[in-house]
This record gives sequence, structure tokens and C-alpha cells, in this order.
Amino acid sequence: MPREYNIAVIPGDGTGPEVVAEGIKVLEGLSHKYGLRLKFQTYPFGGEHYLKNGDLLPDEVIHELKQMDAIYLGAIGHPDVRPGILEREILLRLRFELDLYINLRPVVLFPGAYTPLKDKGPEDIDFVIVRENSEGLYAGGGGFLKKGSPDEVAIQESISTRKGVERCIRYAFDYCRNRDKGKHLTLCGKTNVLTYEFDLWQRVFQAVLMEYPDVTTDYQHVDALCMWMVKNPEQFDVIVTNNMFGDIITDLGAIIQGGLGIAAGGNINPHGTAMFEPIGGSAPKYAGLNKINPLAALSAAQMMLDYLEENEAASVLLDAIKKVVRDDLKDLQAGKMGYGTKEVGDLVVGYL
Ligand code: IPM
Ligand code: MN
Repeated sequence: MPREYNIAVIPGDGTGPEVVAEGIKVLEGLSHKYGLRLKFQTYPFGGEHYLKNGDLLPDEVIHELKQMDAIYLGAIGHPDVRPGILEREILLRLRFELDLYINLRPVVLFPGAYTPLKDKGPEDIDFVIVRENSEGLYAGGGGFLKKGSPDEVAIQESISTRKGVERCIRYAFDYCRNRDKGKHLTLCGKTNVLTYEFDLWQRVFQAVLMEYPDVTTDYQHVDALCMWMVKNPEQFDVIVTNNMFGDIITDLGAIIQGGLGIAAGGNINPHGTAMFEPIGGSAPKYAGLNKINPLAALSAAQMMLDYLEENEAASVLLDAIKKVVRDDLKDLQAGKMGYGTKEVGDLVVGYL
């Protein structure tokens, strides 16, 4: 009996559809070989659809998506839609409504990929960031007072709940233990200034670590951690942090692993569904040109297989991606790869 999975596909805007097409091509190639039956259900949501039809993400669809085994997302973003609308009403709404409370971002430099860090190589850049994905500044707390007047006040609140912090920290410890690299977990915060939020984070971290005697830990302020990510990235194994700091340090992570052509992430509810995406955005100037690198979307597909515990298929796909990076592509950036989007997909399929 082939193992069956229902996958929602949201190709989205810009280059999203073309990279997702490569992802599906590769997943289909794998599914024949490894006895999976993947049932893809495509949804049209994104900026393009919003401009045409006025709807962002209907409630019935949210309900449907909750039943899916996983969601495969291309990119959401449109130059003609005011910033914030698509982000809040589609991407962040999915995170909140499906309670995708973990944002998982591997930062791994594959052999052959370019890193802007001098004298650093694949043996130095190999860690994972666990970002809390449902609270903090992203919870949307705050408001205006006397808006538009000279006396106006803008308040943006960072909300951390004990439950929210604890489930994230626990996930990070488990992940670190199972990753089995250095079994070292770094808490990234700002205890010297954010004396309420990171007091809670640190107390929860201290309590949970008692249950993981095999995992060593340290604490770093986010500003210092940014310096260390550049100077000594080899010290990191798994980093856990809040939503806002996680957003920032994962972009730093993306660039040191070769950039947006390769970086992928997962928005995960460990007890529900999960959504996987290339983190590069919709890159409208490359849309439809067959120039964008689909490897980030393929890495997202690889993470999805891993999450579905299709370990063999996941590891074959990972090897194929690495081989293309090492042996075939001149560069990971759009238009400089030496191949088109579709051709890169074909190369990966060829190595499966
Ligand atoms: C990310 C993105 C989003 C975020 C934006 C698009 C709302 O930057 O997934 O990291 O800030 O979380
Ligand atoms: Mn971001």
C-alpha cells in the first residue's frame, strides 16, 4: 500500500508558481520510486488573486487546510498590493489559525555554494534556527492614540505566554537531541533590555533544560549572536529565539548559506499540519523568465518529506540537491546559474 498524503499547494505570486512547479515535478518523481501517493490540491491565493477577486483567504479554506497533511507554498507578495495586507491576511493568518508555532530554518552551507563569510566552509556553517512563530511582536498587540495629531502615540506590544514559550523551547530541545550533531542549544534573547519577555524565556529555558541532561546550552544576546554568526558560525548547532529576533537572524542565516536561491523554511505545528516554503519571496522582476533558482523550493519540499517522516525520499532528495549545487550550478543566484529554472528541476530529477 502506498502511503498517501494530502498536500495543499499555494503557488502564489511572482516566481512562486514556477518554483512550485519544479517542486511538484521532483515530488512526483520521488513518489513513484518510494511508494508514496501525493494528492495535490492547488489553491489560487495571493496578490494576483486578491486584485482580481477581492478575496484573501476564505474561512472555509482555512478549515480545509487544517485537514491537510502539509501545505506547500510558493511566494506571497505583489507590487500592486499595499505592504502588510497579504502578509497579515494570508501568511500570518495561516500561521495563527493553523497554530504553526514553530518556524524551522536550517542554515546549512552545501559544498560548492558561495558564502560571503571569509574562510568559512560547509564544515563551519551547519546549524538550525528554531523561531517561535505565533507570538511576540507578531501577535499584533498595540494601537494608536491620537493618531495623526502632533500628540500621537504608537504602541506595539510583544506578547509572550508561558505556554507559547515553553512549547517552542521544548521543541528546540527535542530537535537538538534528535539532530544529534553537537547537542548544543543556544537561547538567543535580550535579557539586558527586554527584562520581562526574556526573563520569562530564560526561566522557562532553565526549567526545561533539566529534562535534557544530554544537551548542553548557552545564552547569547541577539546583537552579539549576529556578530558570532558571522565570525564563528561553527559554534552553533541549534538556536532558539522569539518571533522577531528569529525573523531577523534567519535572514542573516540565509545569506551565509548562499542566499535566497537555496534557503527554505517550515512553519510547523508538531501536532497538526505544517507549511513549507522557499523564503525568497515573489521576486516579481524574475517572474515567468525561467531564471529563478528552484532549489529553495526543492529544499522546502525536502523539509516537507522529512516532516512527513518519509526519511528515505527526503534523504535522496537532499543528496540530489547537494549534487546539483556541487557539480552543476555556476552560481545560486537567479540568472547566473548556467541553467534555467526548469533545467535545474530536471537535473535534480535526474539524480533521484
Ligand atoms: C518571513 C517573512 C515574514 C515574517 C513576512 C513576509 C511577514 O519575512 O517568513 O520571515 O516577517 O515572518
Ligand atoms: Mn523574514
